[in-house]
Amino acid sequence: MDKLLITGGRTLSGSLRVSGAKNSALKILAGTLLTDEAVSIGNVPHLHDVTTMIELLGCLGAEVVVDEKMRVEVAARELNSLKAPYELVKTMRASFVVLGPLLARFGRAEVSLPGGCAIGARPVDQHLKGLAALGADIEVEEGYVRASRQGRLTGADITFDLVTVGGTENILMAATLAEGITRIHNAAREPEIVDLANFLNAMGARVSGQGTDTIMVEGVERLHGCSFDVMPDRVEAGTYLIAAAATGGSVRLTDAAPGTLGAVLEKLEQSGASVERTETTLSLDMHGRRPRAVDIETDVYPGFPTDMQAQYLAMNAVAEGTSRVTETIFENRFMHVQEINRLGARIELQNASTAIVHGVERLKAAPVMATDLRASFSLVVAALVAEGTTLIDRIYHIDRGYETIEEKLSLLGADVQRVR
Ligand code: EPZ
Repeated sequence: MDKLLITGGRTLSGSLRVSGAKNSALKILAGTLLTDEAVSIGNVPHLHDVTTMIELLGCLGAEVVVDEKMRVEVAARELNSLKAPYELVKTMRASFVVLGPLLARFGRAEVSLPGGCAIGARPVDQHLKGLAALGADIEVEEGYVRASRQGRLTGADITFDLVTVGGTENILMAATLAEGITRIHNAAREPEIVDLANFLNAMGARVSGQGTDTIMVEGVERLHGCSFDVMPDRVEAGTYLIAAAATGGSVRLTDAAPGTLGAVLEKLEQSGASVERTETTLSLDMHGRRPRAVDIETDVYPGFPTDMQAQYLAMNAVAEGTSRVTETIFENRFMHVQEINRLGARIELQNASTAIVHGVERLKAAPVMATDLRASFSLVVAALVAEGTTLIDRIYHIDRGYETIEEKLSLLGADVQRVR
């Protein structure tokens, strides 16, 4: 199993290109199932999760061609299966979003229930409620969701009980081919939803209101092929900004989407960073200073993203002062706390959703273990500032969501090696 060896103490500085957004690419790839024409997707990041989604499309019978620049062409002309098996869905929950597209286009789909995961129970009740409102018959049996419908789905008014990114995406995709108008109320506003809606519109869908909490979809009879580039990854961008800031360093990000990072940039400025942005670049400079402790509370977009909580908490661990970090989206997203404490941090878990972080002047290397994707990067942040060499085990979690992590960190001057 791969591990990372990081020798801390270097001040990061340099320039990086931001990769395409994992959480947008995965849904857009699922969206290619909505048409029988070829669809070409650019700026797809080279990540394990993307490979899993490509494998799933292949196992359903779609033809998939990937070129050397990770432009992915999918032609889902005729499928030979409408079943997303447990083996694939259990390795990546995002596979569940093939349910909406398959059902809408073929009138039938069978998708394994994803089950819980390290960060929480993560049910899919809202996805199922939405599809039922569009007229699907839904049965949950033997660990599978079996959805069917005679003829087209029918548009409906759907109000989610809570804001769900994946639920919004599943219903949005299903509604594109439904008869009539669908309105999704209490919809997620995340930039990845906007990207997906723009992609669907490029295929001939009629989606409006994306980026607000009410999305309207006028169903069409069929969608066509298109060429589309995935948006920049805001979580990857924010993660490298935090990593550089934690070391007192500087970084310039190109091909970024600064407009999607408002809440994170605001916090970084409160931590003492100077931030400059153009339409597609972001520059951060800590001028060699130690960060100031800043309270964080995660929220749905445009609030502070849960996917950057762990990394920010790691920076707070070496900041000047005490901070409170509150997680409101997932019920079990503090597994990194124990691991960061192994490096000498003073973080107390007040309850399941609140951590009190007493900033310490220095951390000291120790072996640690990655528990989920973003938590893994928080260990990288901690290792970058720790004295000595930290061994991070189970980094397959990182490879699910961070493209060429050693290369990118090395470009910024970090001392990092992958070992087996
Ligand atoms: C997406 O997960 C992201 N994953 C997550 O990123 C991200 O943390 C999350 O959105 C929140 O921003 C992908 O896009 C692949 P949700 P998703 O449905 O869609 C509850 C990463 O590290 N809920 O918005 O699964 C749920 O349990 C990953 O890249 C229900 O109760 O998140 C959670 O507490 C991790 N019923 C909350 O809502 C439902 O039917 C938000 O979940 C659906 C969700």
